[in-house]
Amino acid sequence: CGIVGYIGSKQAAPILIEGLQKLEYRGYDSAGVSVYDGELIQITKCRGRLMNLECKLTDSPLGGSVGIGHTRWATHGEPSDLNSHPHTNTNCTISVVHNGIIENYLYIKEWLKGEGYTFITETDTEVVPHLIDYFYNGDIVDAVMKAVNKIEGSYSLGVLCSNEPEKLVAVRKDSPLIVGLGEEENFIASDIPAILNHTRKIYLLNDREIAVLTRGGIKILTSEGKEVIKDIYNVTWDAQAAEKGGYEHFMIKEIHEQPKAIRDTMTSRISKDSDEVKLDDITLTAEDLKNIDKIFIVACGTAYHAGMVGKYVIEKLARIPVEVDIASEFRYRKPIINGKTLMIVISQSGETADTLAALREAKAQGARVIAVTNVVGSSVAREADNLLYTWAGPEIAVASTKAYVTQLIAMYIIALYLARLNGSMPVEEYRTIRDEMLSLPEKAEELLAKKEEVQKFAAQNFMHKDIFYLGRGLDYTVALEGALKIKEISYLHAEAFAAGELKHGPIALIEQGTPVIALASQEDLFDKTLSNIKEVITRGAKVLAIAMEGKKDAEKSVDEVIYIPKTLQLLAPVLEVIPLQLLAYYTAVQRGCDVDKPKNLAKSVTVE
Ligand code: G6P
Repeated sequence: CGIVGYIGSKQAAPILIEGLQKLEYRGYDSAGVSVYDGELIQITKCRGRLMNLECKLTDSPLGGSVGIGHTRWATHGEPSDLNSHPHTNTNCTISVVHNGIIENYLYIKEWLKGEGYTFITETDTEVVPHLIDYFYNGDIVDAVMKAVNKIEGSYSLGVLCSNEPEKLVAVRKDSPLIVGLGEEENFIASDIPAILNHTRKIYLLNDREIAVLTRGGIKILTSEGKEVIKDIYNVTWDAQAAEKGGYEHFMIKEIHEQPKAIRDTMTSRISKDSDEVKLDDITLTAEDLKNIDKIFIVACGTAYHAGMVGKYVIEKLARIPVEVDIASEFRYRKPIINGKTLMIVISQSGETADTLAALREAKAQGARVIAVTNVVGSSVAREADNLLYTWAGPEIAVASTKAYVTQLIAMYIIALYLARLNGSMPVEEYRTIRDEMLSLPEKAEELLAKKEEVQKFAAQNFMHKDIFYLGRGLDYTVALEGALKIKEISYLHAEAFAAGELKHGPIALIEQGTPVIALASQEDLFDKTLSNIKEVITRGAKVLAIAMEGKKDAEKSVDEVIYIPKTLQLLAPVLEVIPLQLLAYYTAVQRGCDVDKPKNLAKSVTVE
């Protein structure tokens, strides 16, 4: 989501809309603004692209010089006019825009209901204006402080109060928020591009800091209410670079967002203080599961590769047979489906035509369907029986990166959930995997710090006509994803092979200098993979190996090694794919390709 706020002497609504246009890349399923008109807070909001909101405002403009705006990427509650932000308290004296996820909203909601509050939306955000109202005693800053003390999760908030319209209050935790300083006007925004046309002077808020904006000034307070003196940050980027957070392309920005995406997708589902997986939108009981004798995982492209990992981990942990299918094949091959079938569809967009058709086919034949998707309220989400949202945030680059790693996390979560439900996993094993999963964001961060190593390899090898990827077991599934990534964006001929299959044909393609990416993270298969690596080296291949820290042998046998931080071999794909994404990215940049919009490809394929 993206938020923006204005206080000054100009008309607020056009400034808010302009800011939202710059933030639309952060989410685009609905949008809205609140403006104080001198007497009341007036709200216009609606589902759909920002364009819809602009049309509404052209028909009935909102006058006033203080306001807040929001562009939404739904996490709780499907995109609808009602669920769009801003949200308000019952008599509309407090209006709030929110970016983030409020984890304890159900608890707060129940508690406030007991206090006589009524709720009209399905969002987590709606608890915020009611909570502020509950604490409001003539001082909006104090009420916001008390309210955020009750909230768990991530948030950046913009708050408007009709009793104190000379103030705009903002606060953040684990969700971005900046404050812009103008001449007799001030701004808040999720990101710099939203206000770059008005000011280049900004304050960067730290977690839990509260900003109180008036027309003439800005006060920053700690969560205890003490004033903080901050340095002004001068923005030197141009607007286009700012939208990409200073990165050259969305793809590389999204690659760097993976630690956060992984963390968000685990949030409130697995945690240190519980031995159970919590999945709000999956209603499968132990009894239901007993009746299931087969799982199909169906998807396209990158999501299909995530599904291959899903098969491996579900079979290993939950001991239920799993078949993975490409959606366009599945729907026409008359698969054996009945009431004992559980289907998992994976789709970033939730709109891929083949995946949707496969889902419908399975449902028609009596299967129960769980959807794993990144888009709340998408077709796949609406038609499935149960849901697990990946919380990667909007993915703009056509080549999927952060959505893929969150799909992997979703596969682990489902596998653990099923394994605990059918009793096939002892609690100690659960804890080992859970704890290791919780450390993945940091390890992904560590790996991203090694990007120069990958960049160097790309610079030396981008001009070849072929590149091959090989691996065994889970490494093979990641090899497929690595090869897909590089062919999508750099137009290099890339193929992935199960390392053991090499000698049955593909090895004939290896020539002097052919780059081969050898994935060797799987401890129990390491020696076997190493012999395959030697086979290609003997034929002249130049090998970059991806191995787990501690495997020093790898270094001796190949040209280059990138070590991924030590983790369980089951979880290695999450880390291992990162250097492959970087390799695809840097190779495409070297080859001068249009990284974010590769030729002939679309982000979401809604035709057969
Ligand atoms: C398109 C995209 C791929 C994506 C595939 C499936 O081909 O270019 O990156 O993996 O569709 O998309 P979905 O939205 O269903 O995950």
